[in-house]
Amino acid sequence: MSTLVAVSAALWGTVASAQAVTIQENTAGFCSVQGSVDSNHSGFTGSGFANADNAVGAGVDWSVNVSASGVYQLQWRYANSASDRPGSVRINGVNATTVGFPSTGAWNSWTVVNTTVNLNAGGNRIRLEATTSAGLANVDSLTVTGGGTVQADSCGSGGVFRPSYILGADISWTHEQESIGRRYSDNGQFKSIERILVDHGFNYIRIRTFVCPQCPGGYLDNLYSGAGPTENWNDTAHTISLARRVKTCGMGVFLSFHLSDTWASIGHQYRPSQWQGMSDSQIRTASYNYSKGVLDQMVAAGVKPDMVQCGNENNTHISGYSYNNWAGFSGVMNSCLRAVRDTDPNIITVVHHGRPRPDGDFPNWLNRMFASNPPIDADVVCGSTYGTTNNGADWRDMFTSVITNWRKPVMSCEYTNVRRDLVNSTIRNMPNNMGWGTFIWEPTAWGDTKPFNFSNNVYSTNADMDQYARIAREAGLPVPSKPASQLAGTTCQ
Ligand code: GCU
Ligand code: CA
Ligand code: CA
Repeated sequence: MSTLVAVSAALWGTVASAQAVTIQENTAGFCSVQGSVDSNHSGFTGSGFANADNAVGAGVDWSVNVSASGVYQLQWRYANSASDRPGSVRINGVNATTVGFPSTGAWNSWTVVNTTVNLNAGGNRIRLEATTSAGLANVDSLTVTGGGTVQADSCGSGGVFRPSYILGADISWTHEQESIGRRYSDNGQFKSIERILVDHGFNYIRIRTFVCPQCPGGYLDNLYSGAGPTENWNDTAHTISLARRVKTCGMGVFLSFHLSDTWASIGHQYRPSQWQGMSDSQIRTASYNYSKGVLDQMVAAGVKPDMVQCGNENNTHISGYSYNNWAGFSGVMNSCLRAVRDTDPNIITVVHHGRPRPDGDFPNWLNRMFASNPPIDADVVCGSTYGTTNNGADWRDMFTSVITNWRKPVMSCEYTNVRRDLVNSTIRNMPNNMGWGTFIWEPTAWGDTKPFNFSNNVYSTNADMDQYARIAREAGLPVPSKPASQLAGTTCQ
């Protein structure tokens, strides 16, 4: 151990002490083995050991969450009575190195091997995969040691996050704001925006993503956050980076596929430039492959979204198709939804209307969506609840019709501070607890009133932010949504 501390001090410079977590086959962080968990050879720790099938590509998967990116040591305890059984070490889906597991002489004779790899801050998937037809050695445990806090993480499949009530926010402008030096402050203390939201009871973050923001006519040509087109904002890489920050704070991730290179909203539903000139069937394939590609990269990065919407404010169109061309409209939307289901059937799927009111064609839209052939295959209906003609009765009636006629839960996926109490009470009072929650849209910078004041490049919480903590408590949610003690030592600060 003293050698290890010396090594870590050299590797991590200022880091004072190394922390380790050991993952057993019966503890959090152990995801799966292609084979079995056995206990027929003595000397193991925990409840047994992972015995991978004797085949090339058979492997064991673990998941860890680390507070800082950098070099970490992986150490496996193992036994092998045969000759060397090397394993390829894959980090977040990418081959990092290969480690030898030389013979220990007998299946009940155990020793350790180790290697070092780079891990990202936040969730990481670690896979050890057999490179020969003999499979792997029997693996007793994995110990991960690093400069920051290391925690066993929940694995990529199953277990999507669904709190009893979602108090959410869309903060997709964060990277842009930070790129021009903007900061966030809460009671005189600088914090990340996501930590401020945690501290006021928010438990979910919505993130928009574009197909090719840098393509001509794409998002980079349509910025209005104040930032310049200095990076490919809201592309897949930026989406993963923000999702990692959100997950590190213990919040759920709601991914919003615009299925466009730029803003998709009522009246603006442009076909991605890379899909132009394609046949309908090629566009369906492109929609599936693009969506699946984003989701696969998120899973590999340890930031699987908990909830996904396919399209944004699709009142009449999606990706250049009108709903009068149902094969085209449903083809794009259902291809994306199928990509979500194929990634993990537990992920909650959502479709989004921009004006869920009688004067917004909403009843007709619901009929088209769920009674056409083919119907749209989504779990939840969300709406943008900005304007109301009758103090929210229009939203209440329309959302109630979704629940009674279509038996689907509802959410507000966009609203502004001025309607904070009206929107949250409308959703919370839906029949049968079928109002799942709400997402305020860009609370730092959008709306007539905001829970932040802005001056000197700093967004500072004002008294309105305390009202969200009250709403969270009224909904029976903890405030903060994750205790400070559990966030100590993480990058969620
Ligand atoms: C034996 C041994 C197993 C081991 C296997 C192997 O069957 O009992 O524990 O995994 O050999 O060669 O992989
Ligand atoms: Ca084996
Ligand atoms: Ca074990």
